[in-house]
Amino acid sequence: MKIIKTESYNKMSRTAANILSAQVILKSKSVLGLATGSTPVGMYKQLIEWNRKGDVDFSAVTTFNLDEYVGLPANDSNSYSAFMQNMFFNHININPDNVHIPNGMTERVDEECTGYDRQIVEAGGIDIQVLGIGHNGHIGFNEPGVCFMRDTHLVELSESTKEANARFFNGKATVPSCAITMGMGTIMRAKKIVLLCCGKEKAEILKKTIYGDIDPIIPASVLQLHSDVTVIADGPALSAIE
Ligand code: F6R
Repeated sequence: MKIIKTESYNKMSRTAANILSAQVILKSKSVLGLATGSTPVGMYKQLIEWNRKGDVDFSAVTTFNLDEYVGLPANDSNSYSAFMQNMFFNHININPDNVHIPNGMTERVDEECTGYDRQIVEAGGIDIQVLGIGHNGHIGFNEPGVCFMRDTHLVELSESTKEANARFFNGKATVPSCAITMGMGTIMRAKKIVLLCCGKEKAEILKKTIYGDIDPIIPASVLQLHSDVTVIADGPALSAIE
């Protein structure tokens, strides 16, 4: 694992945007795995700016998002689909046909999940997967458990994840109970992984992720087994390690 320490959230975002831009500049038909949440917002802002300036071109890029809530239509403002449109896709020259987010409204969850993994394979696999990390060590919505779930699947959200995400809803009670998420195998098959982490409240979980046992109770710990992971974190997030 490579760890890049940045002096601020903005520098973390810019460093991540640099890595994604370099990927897209070197391979215009790149396949990017993307995340929602607060952490990557600055990276998206930076990429939008460079796209507007003509420095990075997304017209041939394909994207696959990590996850989506079950029961929220794409036009619901709390859906991850709406998040991605508002924070990124509406502002860059990506082809909407190349954007993939699990369909949280499907009545055939199994087909949706196997189809999602198949589409990733058909697109040539993910070149770079961007990840944030939950306070409980989840990546995507792979919650702490007794085993690492391999493929894209339906998951019941933990109470701590609902609490953490309640800030986007009208309180915890309105956070959906389930989501569709890429599995750990789906994520681990990405050729390169970039994990973004900021803030002191993530320091302990980041330490366990990087130096703790590889255990499904800390889902992100499996990243220790990937051959090309770059952690980009600010000082407070790395404070438990130093
Ligand atoms: C988002 C996702 C989640 C978040 C994690 C951290 O698509 O899959 O794993 O990355 O919950 O969220 P933030 O960045 O809001 O702290």
